Amino acid sequence: MKIIVAKDYEELSKKAADIIAQEIKTKSNPILGLATGSTPIGTYKELVNLHREEDLDFSKVETFNLDEYYGLDSTHEQSYSYFMKKNLFNNVNINMNNTHIPNGLTEDIEKECKDYDALIEKKGGIDLQLLGIGVNGHIGFNEPGEELSTGTHLVDLETNTIKANSRFFDSIEEVPKKAITMGLASIMKSKRILLLANGENKKEIISKIIDGKVSTNVPASILQVHSNVTIIIDKEIAEYLN
Ligand code: F6R
Repeated sequence: MKIIVAKDYEELSKKAADIIAQEIKTKSNPILGLATGSTPIGTYKELVNLHREEDLDFSKVETFNLDEYYGLDSTHEQSYSYFMKKNLFNNVNINMNNTHIPNGLTEDIEKECKDYDALIEKKGGIDLQLLGIGVNGHIGFNEPGEELSTGTHLVDLETNTIKANSRFFDSIEEVPKKAITMGLASIMKSKRILLLANGENKKEIISKIIDGKVSTNVPASILQVHSNVTIIIDKEIAEYLN
């Protein structure tokens, strides 16, 4: 695991955007795995800046998002589909047909998940997967437990995850209790993984995934066995690790 320390969130976002921009510039058809949540918002802002100021070209980029709430329409302001349009897709020259997010309103969950995995495979897998991390060690919505799923699947969100995500909703009751998430196989098959973490509440989990044992109770710990992982952390977390 390569660890990069940024002095603050702004620098972390710039460094992450530079790595993604490099991937976009050097591949003819870059396949990006994307995350939502608060952590990558700054990165997407920087990517939009790079598009506007330096003509970073998204026309050949294809994207697969990690997850989507189950039961939310893509026009719902808290859906990950809406998030991606607002923070990135609407602000760059990406072809919307090349953006993929699980359909949270699917009536055939099994087919939706199978088709999502099959499409990722068909495209040759993900070149660069961007990840945030939950305080419980989840990546995507692969929550801690006795078993971890490999493929895209429907998951019951942990109470703590629902609580953490309630900050984006008017009340905790409105937070969906389920989500569709990419499984660990698609994430681990990505050629390169870029995990971002900042702030006080992520320091313990980052220390666990870097130094702790690989365990299903800390899903992100599996990243230790991937050969090309870069983690960008801020100074606050770095100081805790030392
Ligand atoms: C979001 C996702 C989640 C988040 C994680 C951290 O697509 O897959 O794993 O990355 O919950 O969220 P934030 O960045 O809001 O702390």
